[in-house]
Amino acid sequence: MLVSATEMLNKAKAGKYAVGQFNINNLEWTKAILQTAQENNSPVILGVSEGAGKYMGGYNVVMGMVKGMIKDQGITVPVAVHLDHGSMDGCLKCIDAGFTSVMFDGSHFDIDENVKLTTEIIEIAHGKGISVEAEVGSIGGEEDGVIGAGEIADPNECKKINDLGVDFLAAGIGNIHGAYPENWAGLSLDALDDIQKLTGATPLVLHGGTGIPDDMVKTAITLGVSKINVNTDLQWSFAAATREYIEAGKDKVGKGFDPRKIIAPGFEAIKVTVKEKMELFGSVGQA
Ligand code: 13P
Repeated sequence: MLVSATEMLNKAKAGKYAVGQFNINNLEWTKAILQTAQENNSPVILGVSEGAGKYMGGYNVVMGMVKGMIKDQGITVPVAVHLDHGSMDGCLKCIDAGFTSVMFDGSHFDIDENVKLTTEIIEIAHGKGISVEAEVGSIGGEEDGVIGAGEIADPNECKKINDLGVDFLAAGIGNIHGAYPENWAGLSLDALDDIQKLTGATPLVLHGGTGIPDDMVKTAITLGVSKINVNTDLQWSFAAATREYIEAGKDKVGKGFDPRKIIAPGFEAIKVTVKEKMELFGSVGQA
């Protein structure tokens, strides 16, 4: 069932669990995530970065694929299709293509510009029932070639953006995309607490969900995090399983070169990782 992410995340915030946003790259990723959500009766958010959208052939291709998958695979759990770290142009294109949710990432603008542009997106998206995520304080690490510094967001700026009527808010709390360095200080849970106090019932979003210790993830959920983004972990799972298949020489045995056979272990590995995350986030059985 295709829905905006508003209701599922409000429910998650009230129920003190989080819904996973799993970024997709292709048909196999999409099928693996949707099947796992259905098998575990969990709501799910399919994240699409601008780079991945381009790679898959465009936002209309993505929507056509997801809609067809939901119908033909009998997916009845709530599914949101969400633009991850969108520019103004990307948000407008995704709204036009039928995405049910968009993130406008204005974190690299000054706060006044972020307020102005986020307001514009909210007006357009809400007119069509599409949910909006905004960001304050850039997330560190690399995402589509953009390197963020991993800031700790200013709680007052979070309140300012929150009060515009965003549906959920990403606030930097020392989290970064991709692998965390050995000397990473961990999430700033005090900052998260301060942010939640000023943003009230709004679900908060934790980017960089790969590599955060489980207990820290659980504490973050108790402090208002209701959406956790995971991308790199699925890529690692897929790559490791594919490597094992090739290194074992299985592509050279019989029809092992068939692309459906080559991709199958990676597909199963994505399913395992998604299930583990859904269990950790507490979204199993919450559809
Ligand atoms: P990871 O790649 O660290 O899992 O982060 C994903 C993310 O935050 C997408 O917005």
